Amino acid sequence: MSKQGRSTRTRLDRFVSEREGVNRRDVRVMLAAGRITVDGSVARDISRVVDQFTHVSVDGQVLQANNPAYIMLNKPAGVVCATRDARHRTVIDLLHRKTAGSLHIAGRLDFNSTGLVLLTNDGRWSRHLASPAQGVRKVYRVTLENPLTPDYIEAFAGGMYLAYEGITTRPATLDILSAHEADVGLTEGRYHQVKRMFGQFRNRVLTLHRIAIGNLVLDPALAPGESRDLTPRELERIASIPARVP
Ligand code: URA
Repeated sequence: MSKQGRSTRTRLDRFVSEREGVNRRDVRVMLAAGRITVDGSVARDISRVVDQFTHVSVDGQVLQANNPAYIMLNKPAGVVCATRDARHRTVIDLLHRKTAGSLHIAGRLDFNSTGLVLLTNDGRWSRHLASPAQGVRKVYRVTLENPLTPDYIEAFAGGMYLAYEGITTRPATLDILSAHEADVGLTEGRYHQVKRMFGQFRNRVLTLHRIAIGNLVLDPALAPGESRDLTPRELERIASIPARVP
């Protein structure tokens, strides 16, 4: 996680004292005089906790106006899911935003994988999405070199042993759409997991496209390389994902 992605919770008096270069007693006086505004209202509580997204101003001068950003991107193949890379274009390069440098990626895709990638500057939000306890389901549409057979479904549901990590994968869903195409649903994200699971059948994944993370579906209006902010409705829905039933 990038440094910018970390939450920076602190008390209001400390925050104003550091930003304004005044001592905490002076901050009390400023507060009593109604000179400090937090999120649009005159602040009264000196011990109020503020974070990197709290809007704070003193005498009408903005001390901090950082806004949280939540973005969905349709990642094209041949782009790296990293904040910087010496050789290849990154998902950050695709955003063409001044503030892109403050963003981090909530769940990576491989270089040649495509589809839904979420980017944010809100570390708490991305940690919540990535937390194993949440078990947020991700859905991948895959095309395969060899035809699929029904015994794949049972193997995916039963979990597969990954020798390198020495673990068995969590139960995964497999919806066979045609002989060479399926949707895979995972509640974890091991290294190259989808490819390795099909690899156990000696079946090569030709294309891998993420279509959903939790109840958030990739907007079909986004062409490869395009992105947009999540809507308030999408943010609400993704925040309400219930914890995984063990
Ligand atoms: N599994 C993979 O193998 N690759 C990805 O990009 C995502 C999941």
